[in-house]
Amino acid sequence: MEIRLRVFRFQPEKDQRPRYDVYTIETDPNERILDLLEYVRGDVDGSLSFRRSCAHGVCGSDAMRINGRNLLACKVLVKDLGTSEITVEPLLGLRVIKDLIVDMDPFFDHFKSVLPYFINDDVPEDGKEFRQSPDQRERYDDTTKCILCAACTTSCPSFWSHEQYVGPAAIVNAHRFIFDSRDAAAEQRLEKLNEHFGVWRCRTAFNCTEACPREIKVTQAIAEVKRVLISGKIE
Ligand code: SF4
Ligand code: F3S
Ligand code: FES
Repeated sequence: MEIRLRVFRFQPEKDQRPRYDVYTIETDPNERILDLLEYVRGDVDGSLSFRRSCAHGVCGSDAMRINGRNLLACKVLVKDLGTSEITVEPLLGLRVIKDLIVDMDPFFDHFKSVLPYFINDDVPEDGKEFRQSPDQRERYDDTTKCILCAACTTSCPSFWSHEQYVGPAAIVNAHRFIFDSRDAAAEQRLEKLNEHFGVWRCRTAFNCTEACPREIKVTQAIAEVKRVLISGKIE
């Protein structure tokens, strides 16, 4: 089939404004959007810039807007889009560095601000490891699946209007440790999330849940963190 691929192009140091380059490509409906971009960069225009690493939905580096939705380019097939007109643009809400590459620093600063790592200075009872029941492990299973692709945070209207909002991805990663029975730093994380630009900036828009390529129940995780802040109990 023949498709018309429109790609957002912008090099801020050189270009006065962004433009869209259009490529007409003969392709198989089972090709991924990432394959089309690779083709353009390899055979048509080597200056096209985008991020990719694993090409299998694991690293989270190729999240972008494809026909208006935040998706991983390596997980979307041409036939999934149901059209031969395909527009590819960078994620919203983060500064464009070049073409489809955005500045991820503000996103990772929010992520780091919630202490997204295991904290417990106590010595385990058996001197070796902290034990956990299957139910306790299950409690935070969903939020362990995050690949930090930023599809959620950059689809959130609250983040678009306030880039200081910590954002759904950071809250998901805080949730992963707040509900881990072995961790001892929930209070520090909750204090951060109770601030002006913490969880209360979430207006339950659900865009984040819709955008997540790992199908994490993002809005539910945010609601669970809000509930802990109201009740003072981690359940
Ligand atoms: Fe990506 Fe989902 Fe993690 Fe958000 S919660 S960063 S959408 S994997
Ligand atoms: Fe934004 Fe998701 Fe809340 S889209 S407003 S973080 S439910
Ligand atoms: Fe790694 Fe797509 S390239 S998730």
